[in-house]
Amino acid sequence: MKHIVVFTGAGISAESGLGTFRDSGGLWDNYRIEDVATPEAFKRDPSLVLDFYNIRRKQLLESDPNNAHISLNKLCEKFKLSIITQNVDDLHERSGSVDVLHLHGHLRQARSIMDNKIYSIKGSDLNIGDLCPNGFQLRPNIVWFGEDVPNMDIAIEKVMQADIFIIIGTSLNVYPAASLINYASRAERIILVDPEPLSYPNIEIISEKANKAVPELVEELLVL
Ligand code: APR
Repeated sequence: MKHIVVFTGAGISAESGLGTFRDSGGLWDNYRIEDVATPEAFKRDPSLVLDFYNIRRKQLLESDPNNAHISLNKLCEKFKLSIITQNVDDLHERSGSVDVLHLHGHLRQARSIMDNKIYSIKGSDLNIGDLCPNGFQLRPNIVWFGEDVPNMDIAIEKVMQADIFIIIGTSLNVYPAASLINYASRAERIILVDPEPLSYPNIEIISEKANKAVPELVEELLVL
């Protein structure tokens, strides 16, 4: 079976009602990264950081996968499918996808500030005083700016095996994640889905929203 690797960003979850970061009105229009998404921010004002993720987790609990997430799984009828996501939502998993690699963490997981052990967050909130079994404060299991991306090597391995590499809903602004497009050397096709795409050499551009474009792309690939 040929191997399709799909690399997603906030845009694939936009039509599920979750905000993107850099579109107008996006999260970074309303919050400063240095206040809510760095280790220094968490040291300086942990409640502000925890509240930022509690708000996003509440929104996630009220959101559902859209046709883009759902239709990707149909590719398994004919291809090996691997998903690599920058998103911290669980919409890929809730749509039924099984091979999902998160680069930037997972909104519904916490980790101990002491030993980085991971715990799932029941409900929506993680607050000061929520401690791991060893008595240390729990933090969101999110990769903050300035922190290592532990799954990057695995992601590179996957992209290097891709026969078809599909990029959906990312501005390709954040490294090292964005560098994945440089590793698709084996891919016979690289396809980018985004309503406001930049242009890249040797990449087929579908300038359309994911909820419409992805099901159509999946149908096209299945009849090949
Ligand atoms: N369908 C497809 N793409 C869309 C849609 C949609 N309905 N709506 C917006 N987009 C596109 C935008 O045009 C943009 O190119 O999604 C992209 C979103 O870009 P960003 O907001 O920068 O999100 P992302 O690329 O995922 O950000 C990467 O930055 O802040 C960090 O850790 C955070 O993982 C995030 C990383």
